[in-house]
Amino acid sequence: MLVLGIESSCDETGVALYDPDRGLVANLVHSQIAMHAEYGGVVPELASRDHVRKLPLLIEQALAESGVSREQIDAIGYTAGPGLAGALLVGASVAESLAMALDVPSIPIHHLEGHLLSPMLADDAPTFPFVALLVSGGHTQLMRVDGVGAYQLLGESVDDAAGEAFDKTAKLLGLPYPGGPELARLAENGVAGRFALPRPMLRSGDLDFSFSGLKTAVLTATRARTLSEAERADLAAEFQQAVVDVLVAKSVRALEHTGLTTLVVAGGVGANRHLRHSLDQELVRRGWRACYPAPSLCTDNGAMIAFAAALRCRAGLPERGDGAICVRPRWPLASIG
Ligand code: KG4
Ligand code: ZN
Repeated sequence: MLVLGIESSCDETGVALYDPDRGLVANLVHSQIAMHAEYGGVVPELASRDHVRKLPLLIEQALAESGVSREQIDAIGYTAGPGLAGALLVGASVAESLAMALDVPSIPIHHLEGHLLSPMLADDAPTFPFVALLVSGGHTQLMRVDGVGAYQLLGESVDDAAGEAFDKTAKLLGLPYPGGPELARLAENGVAGRFALPRPMLRSGDLDFSFSGLKTAVLTATRARTLSEAERADLAAEFQQAVVDVLVAKSVRALEHTGLTTLVVAGGVGANRHLRHSLDQELVRRGWRACYPAPSLCTDNGAMIAFAAALRCRAGLPERGDGAICVRPRWPLASIG
């Protein structure tokens, strides 16, 4: 079986071909970061137009590079939400049209389902059930995952997502978009603890998060006086440490609460090296295990969408296949079956 996966929910155009017997046959990502950088963030209309320009070319390129013809595609998975409405519509339109032309099933995929299943593409793949920590630009959630389509929300951010907090804080520190990786780089030169930032909701007793206060605390620190280069690095390190402390503590609590021993970490912030190191330390100490996608599969890509679609096909989960072009910019993961 060969599944084409299409991702266009935000600022990356992703196309991949996945075969359960051969693994990833092609995986191409075009990032729009350079285009949005001069505006300091994603401009939705520009994102949609760029997906229109790039998506057909990437599909052709994926087929050519892997020596596969269109007729060999057995199913098409695409991101149907959540994300930017216009950007999602581009992927959905291309996927549904191609599925109709090739007379193969189309499989609308939840973007976060793609992220949380992506560590299963690794050699040392986790098995169900597990707890997933989803940390992206738009979401911070802890989910209990019992199988494909069996997701129970354990806790989530009540305001900013972790990636959003990284991006906004990076902006306050004068770093270019997208700020997360830039802030992580700056933090490597700094020392956490020289500034004192809060650990929001660390002791709230539940599995929810809040990151907007942290960003405000950074704003207060940057406004108090002009910071030296070394102080900016210290503030970045303290911010990163605060986010990591909360993410680690709540992940441990989620594992305790569910009695499970495997944590799957997915989404862009899952690429953060300090987060990975701290989670590994805390989990290994308890005899538990953390699984991550390859760093290149942490941020948005078509591979995770093709993979999720293949798993859904195999599980016999519903395919729409009626050619309707329907996207869900807001779509709670726990509501899908
Ligand atoms: O999953 P993703 O590619 O897109 C969404 O679905 O949102 O996540 C993007 C987010 C951005 O906020 C970006 O700044 C953050 O992930 N990010 C990082 C790192 N790499 C990406 N945040 C912290 N450290 C990183 N190394
Ligand atoms: Zn994402």
